[in-house]
Amino acid sequence: MRILVTAASKHGATGEIADRIAQRIGDAGHDVVRQAPEDVTSIDDFDAVVCGSAVYMTQWMSSAQDFVARFESELTDRPFWAFSVGMAGVPKHAPQDPSRIGPVLLRVRAEDHRAFPGRYKPELLNLRERSIGRLAGAVEGDFRDWDAVNAWADGIVSSLSA
Ligand SMILES: Cc1cc2nc3c(=O)[nH]c(=O)nc-3n(C[C@H](O)[C@H](O)[C@H](O)COP(=O)(O)O)c2cc1C
Repeated sequence: MRILVTAASKHGATGEIADRIAQRIGDAGHDVVRQAPEDVTSIDDFDAVVCGSAVYMTQWMSSAQDFVARFESELTDRPFWAFSVGMAGVPKHAPQDPSRIGPVLLRVRAEDHRAFPGRYKPELLNLRERSIGRLAGAVEGDFRDWDAVNAWADGIVSSLSA
């Protein structure tokens, strides 16, 4: 099958998670296209779509929100998986709700929406982002759980062959 894996990422952590998901699905024998949401002009040729975004200020990035809005009707015709990358599940981090991207995913029915922990590295951020992170009590580190990402991608592969 032909699968689109698209993700919005500002500082790369979400992009690398999308790369891993694309690689796993491709290794299982599917034809995977990995594109940034703003570069996708049509999803007609895809049998299924995976779309993710980094979460900033409780929201999906605008390019991912726009993607869902642009392809809302086509996404109801084919399996669609969503993932968010934020500080959910990060030990000692102030509780937050990275799934509070509600309005985006209310538009479409996702097979699943998964929140993955991301990366908070102040040296990658601008001054404003660092101040917000400090105020939010962000804990420095790379908390990406590659086993969880692999397992989620493998679940998509199983669903595709079901
Ligand atoms: C300014 C700023 C705001 C953030 N806001 C949230 C938030 O509201 N919820 C959350 O779970 N994570 C939040 N995060 C954490 C990011 O989602 C996390 O660092 C993620 O890995 C960034 O992905 P990226 O490298 O793909 O851009 C924020 C990070 C920054 C720097």
